[in-house]
Amino acid sequence: MSSVAKNHSEKLPVLSVENLIVSYGSNKAVDNVSFSIKKGEIFGLLGPNGAGKTSTLSAIEGLVKPQSGNLLLEGTDMQKHPAEAKANMGVQLQSTSFQFELTIDQLIRLYAGLYNVQLARRDILNSLKEIGLESESGKRFKQLSGGQQQRLSLFIANIHHPRLLLLDEPTSGLDPQSRRQLWDTIEQNRRNGGSILLTTHSMEEAQSVCDRVAIIDHGKVITVDTPKGLIEKHKHDQRVRKVARGKVTLEDVFIGLTGNEIRE
Ligand SMILES: Nc1ncnc2c1ncn2[C@@H]1O[C@H](COP(=O)(O)OP(=O)(O)O)[C@@H](O)[C@H]1O
Ligand SMILES: [Mg+2]
Repeated sequence: MSSVAKNHSEKLPVLSVENLIVSYGSNKAVDNVSFSIKKGEIFGLLGPNGAGKTSTLSAIEGLVKPQSGNLLLEGTDMQKHPAEAKANMGVQLQSTSFQFELTIDQLIRLYAGLYNVQLARRDILNSLKEIGLESESGKRFKQLSGGQQQRLSLFIANIHHPRLLLLDEPTSGLDPQSRRQLWDTIEQNRRNGGSILLTTHSMEEAQSVCDRVAIIDHGKVITVDTPKGLIEKHKHDQRVRKVARGKVTLEDVFIGLTGNEIRE
């Protein structure tokens, strides 16, 4: 690549989502959503159940067809070039949907093969050591604990070192130790230059790992900023003040802006 082209591509956002609309029949699950993610950034979509987080990710992953909008991966139209987009993306779905009967070793070989990644026996062993599964490689996926399944699925999502990792509620259902470990892995990924888009409804997660957060509800982005920036921006909002029990927290901002009602 020429240095001009390289400089140009380094300035481009890794991902741009522009005016995305996803509908299921008459239900507009994603209603004109726009945001972009910089290189090395961990970006969180924070929203209550049914807010449209998974639908946004599914459109980016090419699993649902948007009604309208543009999706650009480093400037390349992902809808026009789906194969190129998939090669540069790693995906961890909300509910891990691996072939439950396969062993860890088989799963790693399967996905390495799909992505055309050459892995020697030694590489696989080293990787398994890194994710603390070195003595489990003969176990079937269904025999692993929740934390082990999450670590393995994150490893597999990352197997081809994609520029963009998409993680749908990566730590839901994990105990605090497994959650910490997963956050460490996510941060390590960023240090290697990868960008991450994750969804969560955990304020703690948004605050601990996300560089920037978009609060989304009813398919719309309500506000985007760093976790600190969101508190600064909204701490004087009447709706936020009303729910705060002292110093305004990110959760107060979230509840203030998305309301008290319980979602399905
Ligand atoms: N496959 C689907 N078919 C029909 N409606 C769906 C489908 N997936 C999600 N929805 C609806 O779209 C809205 C957003 O859902 P979703 O994107 O899963 O939200 P979140 O991930 O934030 O919980 C909800 O009203 C949900 O019921
Ligand atoms: Mg979801």
